[in-house]
Amino acid sequence: MDLQQISEILTRLEQHELRAARILNMVPSENSMSALAKLPMLLDPYHRYFFNDGAAEEPWEFRGVEELASLETELARPLLRELAGAELVNVRALSGLNLMTLTLSALGGPPGSEVMLLSRAQGGHYATASVAARLGLKVCYATGPDAHTLDETQLAETLRARQPGLVYIDQSNALFPLDVERIARIVRHEAPSTLLHIDASHWMGLILGRQLLNPLAAGADSFGGSTHKTFPGPQKALFATNRRDLFERFRATQQYMVSSHHFGATISLALALLEFKHCHGEQYAAQVVVNTRRFGAALDRLGLELDGKERGFSAGHQLWIRTRTSGVDAFTASQRLFDAGIRTNAYPSLPGISEPVLRAGLNEPTYHGLVADDMEELAELFVAAIRQTQPAEQISSRVAAMRARYRFPYRFPSDDPKLLEQAMRLVRVALTQPRE
Ligand SMILES: Cc1ncc(COP(=O)(O)O)c(C=O)c1O
Repeated sequence: MDLQQISEILTRLEQHELRAARILNMVPSENSMSALAKLPMLLDPYHRYFFNDGAAEEPWEFRGVEELASLETELARPLLRELAGAELVNVRALSGLNLMTLTLSALGGPPGSEVMLLSRAQGGHYATASVAARLGLKVCYATGPDAHTLDETQLAETLRARQPGLVYIDQSNALFPLDVERIARIVRHEAPSTLLHIDASHWMGLILGRQLLNPLAAGADSFGGSTHKTFPGPQKALFATNRRDLFERFRATQQYMVSSHHFGATISLALALLEFKHCHGEQYAAQVVVNTRRFGAALDRLGLELDGKERGFSAGHQLWIRTRTSGVDAFTASQRLFDAGIRTNAYPSLPGISEPVLRAGLNEPTYHGLVADDMEELAELFVAAIRQTQPAEQISSRVAAMRARYRFPYRFPSDDPKLLEQAMRLVRVALTQPRE
């Protein structure tokens, strides 16, 4: 066996890990979580199916995780019920897109039914219409006069005329959340039998952290989304509702569209929820919004052009930055930032912006501990990288120093001596499979 090749792969992973600890990831779709929460994905449950999802009377066909099943049924789910303010939750979807497919399939009705989606010009996700079409669903849209506003008259008229089975609101590229209470009121009035689902993938951490109104409390029938964007958890997704009939429809669909729900990642989700609850998740969520607005204002002062200025730049974690007015294309800006240790998205366009544009998120930097007073310095480094007024190496050292300033305020103390010893023992067991 070529151990040299494996060693080289390990070396590359180690180099990546060391690099990752020195940079700031500002891709709004990503986040981090504690190494302790990640640990289950290294262990035996990662390989196991777990079909029995808690109905005690079901016989076990696939044996193996009986002793761990309660980590999903009696830890992850109750924690999520509490944080999501929902009576019923499902944690089996593998990602936001997988959850979207499950939800459209479960709640969208049989092929030929009509669903209403949020237009991409108002921030709707790029894949939703395609997923709906592949499920045989017909699509109509909620549209609006600008990227962050719905035309309520158009919404009401379309609902009245078409009576879709489901309204699926999936703000993905968005600086300001739509008002779910108003949408729910219009849906109830114009199409009383229409379901309203909110895909809150990008907003999940801010909703669970009580920075944004919970969609169920606002009148939606269900909500869900990724658990790894503003929520600092594993790459999975959740579904939440107070309606037993919708929960059962979702579950019945999920059983035929997701067999392995990646039980290792589900235990990680349980740990991430525990981490969020006990390691100041609400404070993290509040800080994300404060940091985002402060960072936006600081970039603006330094001469960058941002969208949403009149409304405080953002009410969430994203900022949209046009760099062309600074004489730099957004893709070039993203490369320069990358070279300086700052990771962002560059897009050819975003809702309401028909030129290349940068999208940056403060969710992960906040999770690493950055506070409002860091935003001026971060903005200075950001602008210096784009304009190349300082060498990239100098900026990247300062970025690394910013990260090194903090000891992870929102995560389990992975370096607590007792926990560390126990975790290292588990890693050793996983790697060496001792015989006794
Ligand atoms: C509203 C919405 N739904 C679904 C997705 C897809 O999520 P994932 O990347 O977890 O599959 C996204 C991703 O940005 C999203 O914003």
